Amino acid sequence: MARIVGAITTSHVPAIGGAIAKGAQAQPYWKPFFDGFAPLHRWLAEVKPDVAVVIYNDHGLNFFLDKMPTFAVGAAAQYRNADEGWGIPQVAPFAGDLDLSWHLIESLVADDFDITTCQEMMVDHAFTLPMALLWPDQHWPVRVVPVCINTVQFPLPSAARCHRLGDAIGRAVRAWPNGARVLIIGTGGLSHQLDGERAGFINRAFDEQFIATLADDPQWATRYSIPQLVELTGTQGVELLMWVAARAALGAKARTLQANYHIPISNTASGSMLMEPVA
Ligand code: DHB
Ligand code: FE
Repeated sequence: MARIVGAITTSHVPAIGGAIAKGAQAQPYWKPFFDGFAPLHRWLAEVKPDVAVVIYNDHGLNFFLDKMPTFAVGAAAQYRNADEGWGIPQVAPFAGDLDLSWHLIESLVADDFDITTCQEMMVDHAFTLPMALLWPDQHWPVRVVPVCINTVQFPLPSAARCHRLGDAIGRAVRAWPNGARVLIIGTGGLSHQLDGERAGFINRAFDEQFIATLADDPQWATRYSIPQLVELTGTQGVELLMWVAARAALGAKARTLQANYHIPISNTASGSMLMEPVA
């Protein structure tokens, strides 16, 4: 059976792509953010995952407002990136893992999750930038399965529902008859609001409590409704749902190996975490 080796969560601000393109990682503005990834690189070099299940929210590249699935799972042999208008370089395509995709889809549907299966799927900055942060040479050493959670158009799935989805993903992966080492990635957040009267809104106290509780109390955020999460973290801060789902995939017990938090990158309170399941 497959083994989940850990979960990595990170923000996915498009400006990160510009910083990578310019080689600005060591500049004072960027260093506190990029420094959070050095321990993750060491861990990845040691653990060497074979496959990554990447939980993220598409922002309009693959799904537009006319068709917006609440949950979608990729089932393609390859996933390409494209220009989203942010002015950041496109990255090389990602190799899919069709066997895990269909295993996951069958398992989730059997678990009563109504998902959209995507045999063609483009991946946006929320997928590509975390991959580039984890593997800076951009020679992707893992096969991937993209999982999208809608945080773009209301209504959004609740944090409790995203926790249950992550839990179901974890059970499915652990039951996959394949000896692979599987990494779960969750991208988005933390607090940020890009538009409206509260543009620029950040909530450090909330984010710090979220990071501090995620491993030991993975349902902490599920006490909040979506409107409460929007109020507490901003209209785009609800992307933290990906962190909730990624953590849930680790099972009942997990520990934090590394956490980083830095304000701001662009308009966003940017964080990253590495968690490991505890048997
Ligand atoms: C920003 C953050 C995001 O999560 C995103 O998807 C786009 C932009 C920002 O802070 O600029
Ligand atoms: Fe985003």
